[in-house]
Amino acid sequence: MFKTPSYNKDGLDRRLSVAPMMDWTDRHCRYFHRLLSPNALLFTEMVTAEAILHAGADRFCAHHLSEHPLALQLGGSEPHRLAAATRLVRDFGFDEINLNVGCPSPRVKAGCFGASLMAEPKLVAECVRAMQGETDRPVTVKCRIGIDDMDVMEGLNKFVDAQAEAGVKIIYLHARKAWLNGLSPKENREVPPLDYGRASQLAADYPDLDIILNGGLETLEDIQSATEAGLFCGVMIGRAAYKTPRQLGYISSALFGHEMADLSHIAQQMSDYAEKEIEKGVRLHNITRHMLGLFTGLKGARTWRRTLGEQARDNPTAAALIAQTAQTCLALQGDTTNRKVA
Ligand SMILES: Cc1cc2nc3c(=O)[nH]c(=O)nc-3n(C[C@H](O)[C@H](O)[C@H](O)COP(=O)(O)O)c2cc1C
Repeated sequence: MFKTPSYNKDGLDRRLSVAPMMDWTDRHCRYFHRLLSPNALLFTEMVTAEAILHAGADRFCAHHLSEHPLALQLGGSEPHRLAAATRLVRDFGFDEINLNVGCPSPRVKAGCFGASLMAEPKLVAECVRAMQGETDRPVTVKCRIGIDDMDVMEGLNKFVDAQAEAGVKIIYLHARKAWLNGLSPKENREVPPLDYGRASQLAADYPDLDIILNGGLETLEDIQSATEAGLFCGVMIGRAAYKTPRQLGYISSALFGHEMADLSHIAQQMSDYAEKEIEKGVRLHNITRHMLGLFTGLKGARTWRRTLGEQARDNPTAAALIAQTAQTCLALQGDTTNRKVA
């Protein structure tokens, strides 16, 4: 189903990634996702180069060792600022540094980065080169197939040509355009139509690049059908991993051949993790908010969501709540605990 990657210097398996998602894929979320998938490449939320340069790297880059393999996603459009940020984060040991060329939010647009950079292939290539100069890890790009009225054939090829020439080997491709005028970021993830055909064409035209397909992949069947021609080196899933985390576990186990972690074990691990984090001043809700979908499709889903949503807010230090609630919900299941979400 996947093409053998052309880039294999770092030995990372990129068949499955969990997408960068602002406000969602923070370190607590990633710790949780890692329990569901021992192998997926996880991404941080986008961090702007300016934020790192002004507020310091620690605030955005601190993470648990178990989160690896882990990519940091940077946002920016000034080569020397991106280079300085890449230098500052070096000691955090990210496995990959990714440049955001896909985010359509007005804030990002005003700063002229994110998806608007699709129209600036040479500038992006300069950014990539500057970042490469500061790290021995691969610098990758996450982009769309185009923006606004850009020609998805010529425009995307021109963009990718420039990045390939700058030495980019791996591209995460959200297979829809971003429409920068008139659509909210949320609409921009739903309204412009997905075009896996164009993504496949790109992968076929650039066999020396590793193209990872992103956008609208929710189930293993979706992945199998979108990748059946064997052109992509992997897939990146976003909302499905977050909203239905057992799907992440299921997809990961199917792709990598590992056992699915059982929910009782995951809940216990998260309680133990929460206990340590609470000692450092974290509120329980900041951890449980990422876990609300764990029982989606199973009996007790509503109890789980409500308890971890509301009671965790009211009892910000009750780390055991996670394991206890899981036991309550698991008692409602037969032997179907790890059942795939329908
Ligand atoms: C809440 C949210 C925040 C996002 N933030 C980012 C981000 O920081 N950087 C980025 O490149 N994409 C971001 N995205 C886009 C995702 O990475 C992904 O490309 C998109 O959701 C399509 O994949 P999906 O259909 O599997 O969700 C975000 C998506 C969501 C839902």
